[in-house]
Amino acid sequence: MKMQKILAGNWKMHKTRDEAREFIQEFQSTHAALNPKTRCVIIPSPTLLETLQETVEGTKLEIFSQNCAYEMEGALTGEISPLQLMDLGVGGTLVGHSERRSFFGETDETCEKRAALALEKELDVIYCIGESLEQREAGQTQSVILKQLAYFSRAVKASESQGSDARAIVAYEPIWAIGTGKVAGPEQIREAHQWIHEALEKAGTPAAILYGGSVKPSNFKEIASIPHVAGALVGGASLKASDYYALLDVLES
Ligand code: PGA
Repeated sequence: MKMQKILAGNWKMHKTRDEAREFIQEFQSTHAALNPKTRCVIIPSPTLLETLQETVEGTKLEIFSQNCAYEMEGALTGEISPLQLMDLGVGGTLVGHSERRSFFGETDETCEKRAALALEKELDVIYCIGESLEQREAGQTQSVILKQLAYFSRAVKASESQGSDARAIVAYEPIWAIGTGKVAGPEQIREAHQWIHEALEKAGTPAAILYGGSVKPSNFKEIASIPHVAGALVGGASLKASDYYALLDVLES
């Protein structure tokens, strides 16, 4: 099956509402005439979701959340529920970003629960996986990735059994390459994406696979040409509209 290309910009904890609107205006003024085949996703802080959702109406841009709770409502301070995302018209969510895993105690188990509920509610999910530097140096990259993927595949199967048609996407992000300027080498990316592709096929849960970690316009051409790389999850380089559409141009060329 030919996978659709996806460019996802993770804004992390950046931008005010005015800055977010400026970004969209600038993006639109450059790409308004185009009808990109690529899915273009922006993933902002919760405070920007409503503003952005309104601003992108009628455009090719989609808005996803950075996280999504594993309950529809309840006593979960600081969380955002699938119900609340659906209320805003938000189409999807990140799950298990390494910053959530490293700084906020997110585990494989909670990631599986978050992904399963989001998918069941027809929210698309970009599910992040990736090894730390210590794990890579200890030769554990493949086993770490396969373990994380087992949780992903379980979530996808659970939602499919509920009749969900939502898209589940995997983002491979080596933790040591995120925000460090250190991009993984082409051979490291090729090898990891091959493992992921095979594991997903074997589990019966094929999915588009994005690469993430210090992607920028100058290195993206090579990364995007690697087999089983369907696009990118981009942090730093998604904050400037000119960089974001330069990445989109690479993906569409
Ligand atoms: P980066 O972040 O592109 O700034 O390395 C990627 C991510 O965290 O998703």
